[in-house]
Amino acid sequence: MLDFKEKIANQISSITNIDKNEIYEYIEIPSDSKMGDYAFPCFRLAKTMKKSPQLIANDIKDGIILSDEFEKIEVVGGYINFYVNNKAIVENVLKQVDLEKEKYGSSNIGKGKNIVIDYSSPNIAKPFHIGHLRTTILGNSLYKMYSFLNYNCTGVNHIGDWGTQFAKLIEGYKRWGDEYDIESNPIEELTKIYVRINDLCKEDESVLEQCRNNFKKLEDGDEYCVKVWKKFRDLSLKEFQRIYDLLDIQFDSWNGEAFYVDKMQEVKDILEKNNKLVESEGAKVVDLSDKDMPPCIIEKSNGSTTYATRDLAAILYRARTYDFDKDIYVTSYEQILHFKQIFETAKSLGLDEKYINGLVHVPYGMVMLKTGKMSTRDGNVVKIEDLLKEAISKVKEIIENKNPELEDKDEIAKRVGIGAVIFNDLYNSRIKDEIFDWDIMLNFNGETGPYMQYIYVRTKSVLEKAGYIPEIKDVNFEKLLDEDSIKVIKLLYQFNDKIMQALDKYEPYIVARYLIEVAKAYSSFYNNNKVICDDKEIQDARVYLTYAAGIVLKTGAGLLGIKMPDKM
Ligand code: ARG
Repeated sequence: MLDFKEKIANQISSITNIDKNEIYEYIEIPSDSKMGDYAFPCFRLAKTMKKSPQLIANDIKDGIILSDEFEKIEVVGGYINFYVNNKAIVENVLKQVDLEKEKYGSSNIGKGKNIVIDYSSPNIAKPFHIGHLRTTILGNSLYKMYSFLNYNCTGVNHIGDWGTQFAKLIEGYKRWGDEYDIESNPIEELTKIYVRINDLCKEDESVLEQCRNNFKKLEDGDEYCVKVWKKFRDLSLKEFQRIYDLLDIQFDSWNGEAFYVDKMQEVKDILEKNNKLVESEGAKVVDLSDKDMPPCIIEKSNGSTTYATRDLAAILYRARTYDFDKDIYVTSYEQILHFKQIFETAKSLGLDEKYINGLVHVPYGMVMLKTGKMSTRDGNVVKIEDLLKEAISKVKEIIENKNPELEDKDEIAKRVGIGAVIFNDLYNSRIKDEIFDWDIMLNFNGETGPYMQYIYVRTKSVLEKAGYIPEIKDVNFEKLLDEDSIKVIKLLYQFNDKIMQALDKYEPYIVARYLIEVAKAYSSFYNNNKVICDDKEIQDARVYLTYAAGIVLKTGAGLLGIKMPDKM
C-alpha cells in the first residue's frame, strides 16, 4: 500500500542528507486536519543547520518535487505541512481492501520472527482474580496483533502450580479432605482448606514441619503427594477453562512452574560456574546491589527453589525451544521488581544477547470497583466467571427490552456482554487503574464495545439493504471526496499504522480508541449521506465505503479479542 509518510521521508532525506528512517520518525500527523495530513517539524534541525526552523522549512519545501499523490505543501512556522491528494488516498485504500479483504491492515513485518507471550498464568487452588482477567485480555490482544502481522507467536499460560503452599494444602487435604466438596467447587473449597491449615500451622509448629516434609516429598515424587497435587491442578484448570471458554481464548503451551522443577539445577549450575551465586543468611542468591536491587533469591535457606528460579529456567527453555525474538510477560505492576531482577540475573546465564534484549515486562494497573479497590489478595474477590456471566445476562435484558424479536439472542448477548468487558479493559492505557462500572461499559452510546459493535451492525444492515457489494472497478472514487467520506477513508488508511503503534508500546488501547474513531466517523457519514439512493454511481461508492469500514471494524475488534454480532 502507498506509504505517504515514506514518500515524504524519501524526499526530505535526499534534500537534507539525513537518514530516511530518522526523518520518518519525525513526521507527525497533525491533530487538526486543516494543518494537513502530515507535518514535518524543522525545529530539531535548527541547531545543526544554524538556521531558523522557518528558513529550513522553506528551503526544504523549495527542493521538494510534488508527485500527484500530494495536493500541496505549505510552510507554517517551523513546520512543513503536507496535504495528500484525496482521490489518491480513496483509490489506494479501497483497492487495498478489495485485494486483502479481512487481511486489510496486516503485513509481513513479523515473518521469521518468534514471539513468546506469557499471559493469564493464574495460580492453581487460588481464585482467578480480576488481575488475571486483565493479563488474559491484554495478552490475548497482543497475541492477536502480532499474529496479524505474521509474527510466529507462542502463547504460554505459565500456571502457578508449584511452591510450598501446595505442601500445606496436601496436609490439609490429608486431614479433612472428605469434609469439603472439592469436586464441584474446587477453588473455593481448596481455599477454605488452605486457610484452615494455615491457621493450624501458626498454632502448632509440628504441623508446619509436616508441611515442609510434604514439599520435600512432592519434589522427590512421592506417590500420594503427587497424586493429590495433580488432583488440585486438574480440578483448578477445569475451573479456569470455563473462563477461557467464555472469552474464547486458547493457549499454545500450558507449561507452568512445575514444568521447570527438573530444569532448575542447570540454572544453579550455570550461576555457580559463573561465580554469581553467593551465600546470604543460608540462602543462595545473586547479588544485584550494583543495580540498586535486592538480591535475586535462587535457593531459600531450607533448600527449596523460588518463583524466580523457575522463571530463570523458563527463560533458558524458551530461548532454546522457541528461539524467541521477544519473550513478553504480562502481569500486574506489583511484579515490576521481580522481572527487573530476573532479567538482570538472566544476563549471567550465558545466553546470546539477542535473548536478553528480547525480554519484556508489560505491567498493568489495578482494577477498581466503582465502590473502591477490588482486592487481589483478600478472599472477598468477585468470581470472574460470575462477572462474565453477569455481563451476558445484563445485555440479554437490554436486548429483551429493545429488540425482543431478535433471533439468536443468547449468542448475541454473549458477544456483546463479553465484548463490553474486554473493551472496557483495553480502552485505557494498561498502567492506569481501571474502573469497573457496568453503566459505563454497557452504554450503547458511549465509547464502548457495544457502541463499536452497534455501528458495525449498522454497516451490515446497509449492505444487506443494498443486497450487493460492488466490484471495485465499478467504484468511482471521485464520489467519495466529500468531508464525511474522506474522514472515514483517512482513518481506514491508518489501520496498519495503529496496530504497529499499539505493539510498539504494548498498548492495545491505541487500536481500541482508533476503532471508536472509525465507528464515529462512519456514523456521521451515515447520518449525513443517503447510501441507498437513485444515483447508482454514488450508491456503489457509498456501499463500498460501508463495506470497507465494516471490515476494519470487524478485523480490529478481532485484534482486541472481541467478536462482532451480525445483528443486535
Ligand atoms: N502466577 C503469577 C501470578 O498469578 C503470574 C505468573 C507470570 N508469569 C511468569 N512467568 N512469572 O501473579
